[in-house]
Amino acid sequence: MIKVTEIKRIALAYSGGLDTSVAIKWLAEKYGAKVITVTVDLGQDEDFKAIGDKALKVGAENHYTVDAKREFATGYIFPSIKANGIYQFKYPISTSLGRPLIAEKLVEIAHKEGCDSVAHGCTGKGNDQIRIEVSCMARDPSLKILAPTRNWGMSRDQEIEYAKKHGIPISKAAKKYSIDECLWGRSIESGPLENPWNAPQDDGWLWTTSPESAPDKPTIIEVEFKQGVPVALDGVAMEPVDLIRKVNRIAGENGVGRVDHMEDRIVGIKSRETYECPAATVLLEAHRDLEKLILNRHEHEFKKLVDDKWAFLVYAGLWDDPLREELEAFINKSNERVDGKVRVKLYKGSAMVCGRSSPNSVYDFKTATYDSSSTFDQTLSNGFIPLWGLQTVVSRKVISNRRA
Ligand code: ARG
Repeated sequence: MIKVTEIKRIALAYSGGLDTSVAIKWLAEKYGAKVITVTVDLGQDEDFKAIGDKALKVGAENHYTVDAKREFATGYIFPSIKANGIYQFKYPISTSLGRPLIAEKLVEIAHKEGCDSVAHGCTGKGNDQIRIEVSCMARDPSLKILAPTRNWGMSRDQEIEYAKKHGIPISKAAKKYSIDECLWGRSIESGPLENPWNAPQDDGWLWTTSPESAPDKPTIIEVEFKQGVPVALDGVAMEPVDLIRKVNRIAGENGVGRVDHMEDRIVGIKSRETYECPAATVLLEAHRDLEKLILNRHEHEFKKLVDDKWAFLVYAGLWDDPLREELEAFINKSNERVDGKVRVKLYKGSAMVCGRSSPNSVYDFKTATYDSSSTFDQTLSNGFIPLWGLQTVVSRKVISNRRA
């Protein structure tokens, strides 16, 4: 048990929402401690000035807003593109990727401010608590970790009561959904989505037009990759954050990026989650396709296993496990020659690759073509097929003899 007297200065990851606002007061009261709030800008659409003002008004001793957008794009999203980062075939791990970076900034500020503890507002039911805590512990195991929301035992109504009593501003509408946002996507969960049979309602989507009302004409974009990461859009070199934002906008306008997913959380809960990830949908699809042009079958099949493990580690809060970097050694090596261009057609909710080219392509026209210029010697198959099928044919024979 943590002795209450040991907690004097707390760095709190602060979103500006009800939970973390109540946490400022609650932590200060419970421990008689000073609370320093930290808001990390990962590209969510928020008024960061207002968030900082609110923290100070509610009683934070000091507030930090950290602009980590570029770091997030290059150090987290780009590695995930190279790893084709997807959890359970559908979720581009957008929320997952941001948490270790939030933890890193939280620990940095805890050190700068001489804090003995860090705190976050995650509930006890999700993955985010795991990601933030493991990453904080991995960076500085001497910091105490406080999870007030998980432990204070207040219901939502009691929280609102507490907020009123302490003059904490409450946003007008009780929120219908639990939402998390960053450059790589929006996560929308709870409320009516808790019944997996209910179709997602229109009011949950913000970044994407419904496919039905998307333009009747397709939009075709061209993404250029260098060493596995996107560097230009439609022939124009772009900074990572700008490129991702632009693809989010264009794809979103075409209704691309909606995900409706049954998900297995690390705490064991089966949950229904929805996401809108327009840029992730397009850029992951484009990258995967380009890899198929450049890597050979052996590399490709092995990389699937590595990619899957990488995404699982990130989803499961183990960003700081050395295995992630070890897997990246392979991922980066294999992506050294993933240079080229991919054309993607965006149309009423779909993102379809319709062209790819690379100086490092292993596609050989002369081998593949059906026309007379082909250099492929078809008679080689006469010997190849009996050898390729040898064991299958023998096994079949044994099995049918047993039955007979
Ligand atoms: N299920 C997703 C994940 O574990 C999304 C979590 C969304 N978080 C939130 N605070 N609403 O990464």
